Amino acid sequence: MTEGKTSNENLIKWVSKIADQCKPANIHWCDGSQEENDKLCQLMVESGTLIKLNQEIRPNSFLCRSDPKDVARMESRTFICSENEKDAGPTNNWMDPVEMHAKLDDLLKGCMQGRTMYVIPFSMGPIGSPISAIGVEITDSPYVVVNMRIMTRIGNAVLEVLGETGSFVPCFHSVGSPLNEGEKSAVWPCNPENTYIVHFPEERAIFSFGSGYGGNALLGKKCYALRIASVMARDEGWLAEHMLILGVESPKGEKIYVAAAFPSACGKTNFAMIIPPKEMQGWKISTVGDDIAWIKPGDDGKLHAINPEAGFFGVAPGTSLKTNPNAMHSCRANSIFTNVALTDEGDIWWEGMTDETPAHLIDWKGNDWTPDSENLAAHPNSRFTAPASQCPTIDPNWENPDGVPISAMIFGGRRMHDIPLVYQSFNWRHGVYVGATMGSEQTAAAVEGQIGELRRDPFAMIPFCGYNMADYFRHWLNLENKVSELPQIFHVNWFRKNEEDKFIWPGFGQNMRVLKWIIDRIEGKATDHKNELGWVPLYNEMDWRGSDFSEETWNELMAFNIDHLKQQTEKNQQFFDKFADSLPEEINSEQKKLLTRLS
Ligand code: GTP
Ligand code: SPV
Ligand code: MN
Repeated sequence: MTEGKTSNENLIKWVSKIADQCKPANIHWCDGSQEENDKLCQLMVESGTLIKLNQEIRPNSFLCRSDPKDVARMESRTFICSENEKDAGPTNNWMDPVEMHAKLDDLLKGCMQGRTMYVIPFSMGPIGSPISAIGVEITDSPYVVVNMRIMTRIGNAVLEVLGETGSFVPCFHSVGSPLNEGEKSAVWPCNPENTYIVHFPEERAIFSFGSGYGGNALLGKKCYALRIASVMARDEGWLAEHMLILGVESPKGEKIYVAAAFPSACGKTNFAMIIPPKEMQGWKISTVGDDIAWIKPGDDGKLHAINPEAGFFGVAPGTSLKTNPNAMHSCRANSIFTNVALTDEGDIWWEGMTDETPAHLIDWKGNDWTPDSENLAAHPNSRFTAPASQCPTIDPNWENPDGVPISAMIFGGRRMHDIPLVYQSFNWRHGVYVGATMGSEQTAAAVEGQIGELRRDPFAMIPFCGYNMADYFRHWLNLENKVSELPQIFHVNWFRKNEEDKFIWPGFGQNMRVLKWIIDRIEGKATDHKNELGWVPLYNEMDWRGSDFSEETWNELMAFNIDHLKQQTEKNQQFFDKFADSLPEEINSEQKKLLTRLS
């Protein structure tokens, strides 16, 4: 047992209360050191939870296979327990906080028996920076500890900043699988039948029980930095968003920053680190973050964004040296791979990683696999956990406590059939409406839903907003009176398909061409040309150097069926009706304006 180096009364009290309830065999306060990390990894190699990869190919890196019943976020088991049901809103699961606390008290009783309870002090944002916020995660999963060490800043340095009286968000986590005397742990313990991912927004507290995977268990990420932080942001006048942040430098050396919200597994990691086509000489992209942005009004009248995380928890399948070399370099060492395949050389593999499929693999379930196998070698939501500092394009300002000024915000999603490649909103209000009406095809990032079916995902925040989304829309609208230089708002869709079911737009690095038009718009260099949806580029306004993308295909990509879109827009009403009279009038009026333009 290691003692915590803290004199923070509240922390000591909380840890001892949880220990009394959960009855762990040991308590370990994490100092965040390399030695501690190495010991935990060694322990997990011995227990079979981790497989050490070939140290020459993939130094200091490990493979982990989860239980096949625990592979993604569980939205149906995620709760916002605000005091009033109305404050959770119609898009969140709600339970009365008193009732939920009683349920959790029951679940917690002896739930860590036979296991070590780890205490992880962590900082979202650089340690000690004025924009950072502290949390403490208690967990009985060593896998969570080593992942949290990559995804956030953890350890003694955080306790020092916390001091005697500092406040923290308590984040409880248990895999919910106590061990009887002498009983051996499962390789991936979990409790899918009793999974609860619970947020108490007024208390600013998180309880997660039963799952060890990703956003369910790495509580700094979705639970804290989005669900709880969105409530803090509402109360304090800032934004906590499901957004990547990137820098773009023109050949003249002018640099701006852009934030973009795409739903889960819709291309944030890719866009955050794209490499411009080589013919677009002199354009440079740098990466601030790939998943979460905390955005605050600055003294200069602009919105400033920071990435509260320290690592990437990126979707593995589809990532390759061709599609996203920077992500591949980020996970070249010191990384953890979950639910990917293992090669005979002791390296990792997933669908889309190489042109040639290896002749033999061990798949994500631990079975022999050949190209003739019917199953996928890697799970569609398999992920790599990699330090952001290893990203070749990491921005020099990525840890700047002042954040980076945001000039544009981009919304997007997977829309195979209807939305054109890009358009710009007419103004802020219209932009908020564009965000509020976002939709995307379901991906494998959550266990529920048919993959591919269209679902509403306003601001890519449906699974992550810790309060009523109608109030969230209001919060966004209100910024208009609070920030003098608001970013311009755009909508993109990389995923349009043709009649042969092929992507029309080549995507990935080619998205730079769209980004360049966006910058031209911000700088007033592109002409005003509009359609019913917003301002759009003309074919000859795009930079096509090194591309043979034809005007004919461009027209196909930018076209939309007015009748179909009108029907889609009318359907928005059903969604908005859920919010009843909480919905801001501005949203209704933008909806009417769009319907008029489409008539
Ligand atoms: P979360 O981490 O779940 O929030 O998702 P993310 O938005 O960071 O997802 P990510 O960037 O990892 O995207 C995953 C999938 O999108 C992969 O299958 C990629 O191949 C695909 N993808 C990304 N960019 C593009 C693109 O420009 N075009 C196409 N067609 N696919 C893309
Ligand atoms: C997402 O689903 O949006 C993710 C992955 O970024 S997870 O951290 O598991 O939520
Ligand atoms: Mn995400």
